[in-house]
Amino acid sequence: MTSPLIAPSLLAADFANLAAEVRAIEQAGADWLHLDIMDGHFVPNLTFGPLVVKALRKHTTLPMDAHLMIAPADPYIAAFAEAGADHISVHPESGPHLHRTLQLIRSLGKKAGVVLNPATPIESIVNVLDLVDIIMVMTVNPGFGGQAFLSSQLPKIAKLRQLIDAQDHEIILQIDGGITPKTAPAVLAAGATCLIAGTAVYGAPDYAAAIKALKTAPATGPDLSPTGG
Ligand code: DX5
Ligand code: ZN
Repeated sequence: MTSPLIAPSLLAADFANLAAEVRAIEQAGADWLHLDIMDGHFVPNLTFGPLVVKALRKHTTLPMDAHLMIAPADPYIAAFAEAGADHISVHPESGPHLHRTLQLIRSLGKKAGVVLNPATPIESIVNVLDLVDIIMVMTVNPGFGGQAFLSSQLPKIAKLRQLIDAQDHEIILQIDGGITPKTAPAVLAAGATCLIAGTAVYGAPDYAAAIKALKTAPATGPDLSPTGG
């Protein structure tokens, strides 16, 4: 099995030293930089917007993975694209026309992602998969770092793996929330290909060791396939 992509979430970094924190995880072997954009409306917390993304763009060559927890999202997508985000992911609940939103992201030359909250069913995205490059499964409720991993989402990840394998284009299956070396094996066994981690990387004394621990986590866990035990 190929090792998963690791996307540290800046949410758990030292916000007084963002540029240094971004450079540090690039040197420590991160694959992507995950940026949590919160508006205090779609989720009960506030972070930062396109101006900060643009300022950080100068400090890293890593793909910038913007996770928009804002509603409406559409009016801000061009601004995040111009700021230098490489991937732009939206929640289906953030606007009335998910298909149009994904078209907009693709039209700006960016990878388009959809994010499923713990209560959001797979059915909400099955009819737009042709426009999707990334599916992100939330294993916590969005809004805060450091929450406990919801193992109730593992069957959803396994079902998405089957759905993705039946597609004719590549879709990255990304997991967000409560990812640690302890929870990673089960999500990898369920079929995840990218792990987002805030606390488990930025809360660790040695970023390189923390990233390596996730990258080399074994894909072992409950067999969630329909025929599995
Ligand atoms: C939560 C964010 C996550 C968060 C994960 O709304 O989407 O990306 O940073 O933090 P940890 O890894 O600490 O659960
Ligand atoms: Zn996130």
